Amino acid sequence: METPDSLPITVVIGASGALASACIHAVSAMADTSHIVAISRARPAIPETEGLSYLQCDNSEAEIGKCIAELSPLRGKINRVIICNGRLHDDNIKPEKRLEDISAEAMMAIMQSNTLTPMLWMKALAPLLKSPQACVMAVFSARVGSIADNHLGGWYSYRMSKAALNMGIRSAAIEYGRRAKNVRLIAFHPGTTDSALSRPFQASVPEGKLFSPAFVANSLLELMQQTANTLEDSPAEATFIDWEHKTIPW
Ligand SMILES: NC(=O)c1ccc[n+]([C@@H]2O[C@H](COP(=O)([O-])OP(=O)(O)OC[C@H]3O[C@@H](n4cnc5c(N)ncnc54)[C@H](OP(=O)(O)O)[C@@H]3O)[C@@H](O)[C@H]2O)c1
Repeated sequence: METPDSLPITVVIGASGALASACIHAVSAMADTSHIVAISRARPAIPETEGLSYLQCDNSEAEIGKCIAELSPLRGKINRVIICNGRLHDDNIKPEKRLEDISAEAMMAIMQSNTLTPMLWMKALAPLLKSPQACVMAVFSARVGSIADNHLGGWYSYRMSKAALNMGIRSAAIEYGRRAKNVRLIAFHPGTTDSALSRPFQASVPEGKLFSPAFVANSLLELMQQTANTLEDSPAEATFIDWEHKTIPW
């Protein structure tokens, strides 16, 4: 993959979703005019431009390997990674209200998209991110993945997939701290944001608490910039942070 030599690179994975698209827009408008590589199962709606390249990937290990080979000329130039993959429901899956709703097949599917897919990307990207420049990797998690904060129950598969993702992010941050000291990881909770994922549940959201993807994307990019700016003074531990930049208990 050829990109302009002087520009830092932002990689957005799971790039067709509402929050991912808003992140792509927000990065395109930033002063550092980073080149963006968007990776998605489908071809995202935003047209490819000079500053934006696409890679299609079904998130299998073989396909991720092919993408990494394409990205290898960008080794050391990537300063942001945003992993957006996540699924709460689809035509066949609904979040469980009670134990009897648990289905092994649905739970495995949610684990695959919400936990395994981001972990495979965290693994695959490791050799590309070591650099003298700061690199911040944000992974979309969810507050409902907090074990400490769970007072409501339900949504077993989604909660468990994000709790497992959080553990993966924490461990990966420790390993990145040894192997690539310039990398910091953030598990990010966007708040309830207007997207296909939240649409069936938006009726119960209090007034003013349903955010636009653009608002959340700007909040995340500000957080990533702050994290990059303070990298040298902060430990390599992952953080679990929400749209207000408040820490969430794991
Ligand atoms: N919206 C909210 O209220 C909310 C709240 C808390 C957390 N989050 C998290 O924020 C992230 C982005 O969500 P969104 O609101 O932007 O939802 P969205 O518009 O539905 O986007 C979902 C994303 O997940 C990926 N995805 C969907 N099904 C997948 C599958 N089977 N395998 C692999 N990837 C799959 C898609 O990537 P492709 O481009 O590859 O299709 C897409 O980027 C998710 O991780 C979600 O859990 C959202």
